[in-house]
Amino acid sequence: MADPHLVVVDDAAWLARAGADVVADVVHADGPVTIVPATGDTPVGMYAELAERHARGDLDTRDVSVVQLDEYLGLETGDRRALFGWMERTVLGPLSIDDERVVRLPTDGDVDAACAAFDRDLEARGGIDLAILGLGTNGHLGFNEPPSNAQSPTRTVELTQDTVAANARYWGSEGDVPTRAVTLGLRTLLDARRIVLLVAGASKHAIVRRALEGPVREDVPASFVREARGSVTVLVDRAAWEGE
Ligand code: PGA
Repeated sequence: MADPHLVVVDDAAWLARAGADVVADVVHADGPVTIVPATGDTPVGMYAELAERHARGDLDTRDVSVVQLDEYLGLETGDRRALFGWMERTVLGPLSIDDERVVRLPTDGDVDAACAAFDRDLEARGGIDLAILGLGTNGHLGFNEPPSNAQSPTRTVELTQDTVAANARYWGSEGDVPTRAVTLGLRTLLDARRIVLLVAGASKHAIVRRALEGPVREDVPASFVREARGSVTVLVDRAAWEGE
């Protein structure tokens, strides 16, 4: 375990390129790789950059598998709020990742039992090579809401009011945001061979400082990246780092 490698970049365009470089490094390693791609605003520029490289023929994704990071619960099939749909439009389609190389989180039936099986299966297939993560203003990674400990399994969660408020901008109003979700657990994420955490904007200033400089504890789940097993790169734009 090493300290996270912190890279402060000037703006969103740099963040997109620097993030894409990390992903390309992993994708171009020999053999199949398993990637977890976060949804959210922060990585959108990076996915667009990766899509451009792929379209130019500079990023071969045939050996890439994708594991879903998080999903809302209680949605009907085809609901516009499903994070899987977002991932299809923003990541899987543009990068030509076929359905058979995508592992979805369970959302039906006994979801907690299915989550336990999910963790066992993921471990059996070799875990995660790269987790691409964003940072919630409440310190969450995926939907590992505070408090979450480093051993949290993949599971169902109640979203905190902070997350509901932050996600209202995607779906109209707070009342449109589902309050239950399923998330890959911190245990699985922290076991990834590599993590890249993307942080942008002044609204993330306080939490990124707490995550990287404050105590490592459950009320800031992202602080556990400092105890991750693999190598961790934190890409932060200047607005988030300096708070301006
Ligand atoms: P954002 O979301 O990239 O849309 O800010 C990050 C998160 O909540 O994990």
